[in-house]
Amino acid sequence: ADPNRDKQIEAHELTAKLYHHLLMNTKQGQSALAYLRGRGLSDKMIDQFSIGYAPESWDTLAKFLESRKFPLPLMEKGGLLSAKQDGSGYVDRFRGRIMFPIWNRDGKVIAFAGRIMGDGQPKYLNSPESPLFTKSRILYNFNNARPDIRKRRKVVLFEGYMDVIKTWSAGIRNGVATMGTALTDEHAAILARSADEIIICYDGDSAGKAAAMKAIPMFEKAGLVVSVAMLPGNMDPDEAIDAYGPDAFLRDVMDHPVSAVKFKLIYLRKNHMLEEDDGRRKYLLEAAKIVAELESAIDREVYLKELSREFDVSMNTLNQDVNAVRLTNQ
Ligand code: GTP
Ligand code: MN
Ligand code: MN
Ligand code: MN
Ligand code: MN
Repeated sequence: ADPNRDKQIEAHELTAKLYHHLLMNTKQGQSALAYLRGRGLSDKMIDQFSIGYAPESWDTLAKFLESRKFPLPLMEKGGLLSAKQDGSGYVDRFRGRIMFPIWNRDGKVIAFAGRIMGDGQPKYLNSPESPLFTKSRILYNFNNARPDIRKRRKVVLFEGYMDVIKTWSAGIRNGVATMGTALTDEHAAILARSADEIIICYDGDSAGKAAAMKAIPMFEKAGLVVSVAMLPGNMDPDEAIDAYGPDAFLRDVMDHPVSAVKFKLIYLRKNHMLEEDDGRRKYLLEAAKIVAELESAIDREVYLKELSREFDVSMNTLNQDVNAVRLTNQ
């Protein structure tokens, strides 16, 4: 075992306990606790996810870690502390933030995401990349969700920490999120080892939709069957649960994901002027390329029927174009 690694984990575990204690039991934590309750989190959820509070002070954690004899330069490397500019010591990296511990696969705290209360930049401050915290491989909540993912061979991917937590309280036990960094092939490979199917449930805004378009081929390449749960308007799952309640969210969003192809066909619409003949023609040409990717003739027929009906073009015509695309793709 690497003694630095063990120290680092021990420090993160203790820090999570300290932040959680400060949130739940102290005057300093009161406004943070009110903020979290105001966002619809019960004390049970706050406990379950070990959410905490890093106070405004410059040295609460630095003093704590020093008193416990942790080597401060090591703590700086792990991102719990920052070196003072004049080299005279260390200060807390996270101040005045709601703290979300990030766990590794063994359920040990290895990093934090700290959310500012209210507006301000950055909204989330993460621990820096380190040998312990490799953002390209870590998925938030994977340790908690893994048993359910493996049992059902199915995983749900969200954009944010709050989405994972709020949907967990709505009963979703197989939800994970990336660290706000881009999804990597490593993430996809890790999920493909535990699941056969993935539901992408990114935010309903244009950034979320564009990110889903990028994620689909990555998961398909990893061998997963991909579908997309779409949110109304520009909402994210956390906001949708607040607005409609957990039951409606499960029923209307989570229980009706659309296939990857369907999602692509919907997404494609926004690039075309469907009220104009030429826009409709161009849309259909692009749509034929998407449908042509499907291996099964039955699957192709399902989507072509919808297109045929909506755009009043015969199945024969659509099939001719799709088959032409398939021939050139071979
Ligand atoms: P809330 O506003 O607390 O509900 O967060 P959110 O998850 O809805 O945030 P948003 O949709 O803006 O961003 C999605 C995810 O991107 C977040 O959960 C973070 O992981 C990440 N993210 C957002 N803002 C920042 C930022 O300023 N810095 C970093 N590193 N990541 C961010
Ligand atoms: Mn507690
Ligand atoms: Mn977003
Ligand atoms: Mn969001
Ligand atoms: Mn949100």
